Amino acid sequence: MPKSTFDLSKLPDLTGQVVLVTGGHSGLQVLLSSPCFFDVLILHRGLATTKVLARQHAKVYIASRSVQKAGSAIQDIKKEIANANVAVIEMDLSDLDSVKRGVEEFLRQEDKLHILINNAGIMCTPYSTTPQGIELQFQTNYLSHHLLTRLLLPTLLATSSPTSPSPFTPRIINVASDGHAKLVSTFSPSFSSFPNLEHESTWTRYGTSKLCQVLHSKSLATQYPNVLSVSLHPGTVKTGLSAGPRGSTAWYKFIQPLVELGAPGPEEGCASIVFCAVSDKIGISDNGSYFLPVGKKGNASKLAEDPGLAEELWVWSERKLSELGY
Ligand SMILES: NC(=O)c1ccc[n+]([C@@H]2O[C@H](COP(=O)([O-])OP(=O)(O)OC[C@H]3O[C@@H](n4cnc5c(N)ncnc54)[C@H](OP(=O)(O)O)[C@@H]3O)[C@@H](O)[C@H]2O)c1
Repeated sequence: MPKSTFDLSKLPDLTGQVVLVTGGHSGLQVLLSSPCFFDVLILHRGLATTKVLARQHAKVYIASRSVQKAGSAIQDIKKEIANANVAVIEMDLSDLDSVKRGVEEFLRQEDKLHILINNAGIMCTPYSTTPQGIELQFQTNYLSHHLLTRLLLPTLLATSSPTSPSPFTPRIINVASDGHAKLVSTFSPSFSSFPNLEHESTWTRYGTSKLCQVLHSKSLATQYPNVLSVSLHPGTVKTGLSAGPRGSTAWYKFIQPLVELGAPGPEEGCASIVFCAVSDKIGISDNGSYFLPVGKKGNASKLAEDPGLAEELWVWSERKLSELGY
């Protein structure tokens, strides 16, 4: 990953801003059961993002499927940043009901949202389906974030309203991956009907979910021109994400050290996310862009740049969510 020219120690003051980060709780963990010694120290970027934003005085909501894990992450943050304003919203992205309940809980507590960071994700899990009958990676990484975003858009838009005391351009950040390009080459997704992923490899399924996140940002930019919606590849960072491929792909543990050679820890690893969330070097003219580390506008894949495919995905997602009652 190229050295960051973006200085995390020189960020704007975020007093009064409300941020929601999915998967923003993960912390430094020791995985005693890990079969791979390279993973003894697992560094999670979600927590680093939360910490960096809290340090700048934002109020950060961590959307997590584990209130307990998130609670202990908050304790850790408060040891470092005594006045950190961080709270937990319980939300399991593998269940659309849980996403809806999480949003209801958030809206009981807040009437503002400045920045939404769709960060949580899983990679290369074995094929399985969610309670809604949808492939697990597709729903966790993409479809639940689509629903979350849709449910929070009225609040994001109200926060940006020109009649509000301090108008602001809200931001929606989709943490995608360069896998959206590299891993989808043998698959021609069509979203005119339900994407049948059962016979695709777990890598293709991961790549497809990430492609959908990039397409989602493109559609958001078209449909909500006053909200800054971008996607990004955060770079390779040593995180818990590798548990997925290690479990599903026999050879992965042998190449993992090479894949992660030189990969940074969480503070640097979160820089791309933080850049897109708060940097004043980007603005509404960058709407829909795809960013590479750190803060460099990149070319998304040909599929991801196809407006027809973005629209197809949007229409399919809305229809599917409506059929399922969301
Ligand atoms: N690491 C990389 O090199 C890399 C490269 C490209 C893209 N990315 C993307 O970066 C994002 C962050 O990943 P990471 O590397 O920081 O991995 P990570 O350390 O494994 O963090 C993933 C986070 O997602 C949460 N999560 C997983 N399933 C969830 C669910 N069903 N409901 C709610 N939360 C759930 C996890 O929570 P639990 O603690 O409860 O599991 C964890 O907090 C992901 O979208 C990933 O695809 C990472």
